[in-house]
Amino acid sequence: MTTTHRIALIPGDGIGAEVLPPARRVLDAVARRHGIDLAYTSYDDWSCARYVREGAMMPEDGLDRLRGADAILLGAVGHPDVPDHVSLWGLLIPIRRAFRQYVNLRPVRVFEGIESPVRGAVPGAVDLVVVRENTEGEYSEIGGRLNRGLPEELAVQEAVFTRAGVTRVVDYAFRLAAGRGGRLTSATKSNGIVHTLPFWDELVAERAAGHPQVPWNQEHIDALAAKLVLAPDRYDVIVASNLFGDILSDLAAAVAGSIGIAPAANLNPEREFPSMFEPVHGSAPDIAGRGIANPLGAIWSAALMLDHLGHPQAAHDITDAIASLLATTDIRTPDLGGTSSTEQFTEALLSHL
Ligand code: NAI
Ligand code: MG
Repeated sequence: MTTTHRIALIPGDGIGAEVLPPARRVLDAVARRHGIDLAYTSYDDWSCARYVREGAMMPEDGLDRLRGADAILLGAVGHPDVPDHVSLWGLLIPIRRAFRQYVNLRPVRVFEGIESPVRGAVPGAVDLVVVRENTEGEYSEIGGRLNRGLPEELAVQEAVFTRAGVTRVVDYAFRLAAGRGGRLTSATKSNGIVHTLPFWDELVAERAAGHPQVPWNQEHIDALAAKLVLAPDRYDVIVASNLFGDILSDLAAAVAGSIGIAPAANLNPEREFPSMFEPVHGSAPDIAGRGIANPLGAIWSAALMLDHLGHPQAAHDITDAIASLLATTDIRTPDLGGTSSTEQFTEALLSHL
């Protein structure tokens, strides 16, 4: 008996809406081959356009509509007419928090045929995963502004690190490293940030005791950022707080050749709620509407989704097709130095499938 997976699609804004249809075409192609049944519901107007029209990124019962889905595939949100914190906090962050998607998983690979701007980033050697804490840390709602417009105006923002929140994401990272037969690096800054990050370090050391087979170390985020550029092949699994993980994964994606390739999974590992899959990149207003966005980040995210839904072989088919297309052809979107449109690139990928 095949079970039907209910997939919620949220294309969002700009190139988000241009990369999601290619991801769906690729999904449909592998689903057909593997006998996987996918039923989509698309929320096409959950976007900045809706915000401008109606004052909200999604309807009031938006989260309830998503609750019944098995997974969410999202393009990107953001538009120059709407402040970025409004679009982010009106859609993405509520979904991540309401559905306890506390792991943000961001795999980074240098594919053969992709020229990295970094000399040391040779194909095959770089294959790492950033595990970013996704629901607390520096991205907190606690704080405020006082004395607006006066010379003594001020802003305060509290970072929140909880034992439960850090423990569960660090445990996830250790299990992931164990499963890969790899090692773990913890991103910290406990020399400069004197309360939260020493606490983070203590919890990492505590959890490490439960995973004696996994070699691990900790590195300050500034040095880690530099080393990730100089010797990206040194890393396997990196666990980081919300802000550090956000910055580090964009950096790692650039090291791998283009942010247009990078995928992300927002996971609720306990599966009490749907997990959400999305490219790392944003809505790219500078190229939106031209049909030249690189769809790989969205397509690779769709592969992560299939893996999460229990179809690792179908997921592999997608990443293998990506690797094969890049290694054996020079079909590329402009961000990778080519001249292909999103459409042409997607067609080529489908033929490699
Ligand atoms: P961005 O990722 O949208 O763009 C950064 C640069 O990379 C741009 O030059 C863009 O053209 C290029 N780029 C990104 N993805 C690409 C792709 N698939 N193919 C080819 N080129 C690509 O980041 P930016 O400019 O900081 O943000 C633009 C908007 O997106 C903002 O409103 C921001 O808030 C939003 N954003 C949304 C995210 C999300 O929905 N998860 C994540 C990051 C940003
Ligand atoms: Mg980011």
